[in-house]
Amino acid sequence: MQAWLLPSLSGLSALRLAEVPDPTPQPGQVILSVAYAGLNPADRYLSEGQYPARPAFPHILGRDGLGNIIALGEGVRGHALGDKRLILRTDVGVNTWGTFAEEVAVAAESLVPVPAGWTDQQAAGAPLVYITAYQALTQWGPLPENCVTLITGASGGVGVASTQLAHALGHTVIALSRSESKRQQLATLGANLTLDPADTQWRRKLKDFLLNRRVDLAIDNIGGSLFSELLDTLNMNGRISVVGRLAGPVPSFNTASLFFRRLRIGGVAIGTYTPDESHHAWKTTLKLLAQTNARPVVDSIHPFTQLPAAFARLEQGPMGKVLLAVAK
Ligand SMILES: NC(=O)c1ccc[n+]([C@@H]2O[C@H](COP(=O)([O-])OP(=O)(O)OC[C@H]3O[C@@H](n4cnc5c(N)ncnc54)[C@H](OP(=O)(O)O)[C@@H]3O)[C@@H](O)[C@H]2O)c1
Repeated sequence: MQAWLLPSLSGLSALRLAEVPDPTPQPGQVILSVAYAGLNPADRYLSEGQYPARPAFPHILGRDGLGNIIALGEGVRGHALGDKRLILRTDVGVNTWGTFAEEVAVAAESLVPVPAGWTDQQAAGAPLVYITAYQALTQWGPLPENCVTLITGASGGVGVASTQLAHALGHTVIALSRSESKRQQLATLGANLTLDPADTQWRRKLKDFLLNRRVDLAIDNIGGSLFSELLDTLNMNGRISVVGRLAGPVPSFNTASLFFRRLRIGGVAIGTYTPDESHHAWKTTLKLLAQTNARPVVDSIHPFTQLPAAFARLEQGPMGKVLLAVAK
């Protein structure tokens, strides 16, 4: 089969399209003929050695994907040859060969059908980001009534998922994006207020909108200098679910800023979900999206041979998911 090979922890520029042996299914696995694969920033982090995974090389990146089953390993139940399946979050693309390839071996326990009424493209890149958003929203247990939830990097994969799920949960949703056109789209996805984090007045505008309320939960995909500004917007007992760090490390912040409002900071790690937890998160996600008739947002679809261009698009800042069309 054809696959994009990463020779070492040498970054995305080292990716090369090459011929490799077809995978064979181990017990409990199936082989998918990949139709679409989803890109994630963690692919880049892994390729640069900035991710806690050390796969054997050459490695194949790609965590999300959709395809038809073309081989079944011993002991697989509930799936048949020809079935179209979607990968929930697994080790695929992390420690085992991923979906930037014509075929991929996946644990059968981590496969789900395409949700009714969704296109293949909507489904292909959805599981990882929606399950992440679900963990970011639920990891604190019950949230205050009329919860105010602020989302940074709201136009990205996790951001769109968080915006839609928080809206479906009845939260007041504040979505941050640096792009005017993406802020307009976020308003149509359920954001009650959109703000530009580069606007020095964004916190004052937030205050004017919320009047005597403050932010109960922040979902942070960005880190960097924005992080301390987020702390400033939080309510008594406010929480930050730390998902990503696209703007790099937080330059400095005074831990005293946590005392007086009893603020809590909690990391999100989708890799810690068991297959059962991932299935539960996915089922709940589908119920919530059905309530508001929401669908995943696809930013762009790139030909299999154009993976570097697809990563360049992701780096620019997408609106939703960036996909690779793998099948010929
Ligand atoms: N902890 C976990 O389990 C987990 C799971 C999934 C993802 N993640 C992490 O979460 C983060 C977001 O993932 P994603 O898939 O949503 O990313 P994404 O699709 O690339 O989108 C992120 C958005 O953030 C904004 N952005 C990008 N770079 C930025 C920068 N340098 N400064 C400020 N804003 C920037 C862009 O929005 P605008 O251009 O509209 O401002 C972009 O659309 C990544 O760091 C990823 O690795 C973590």
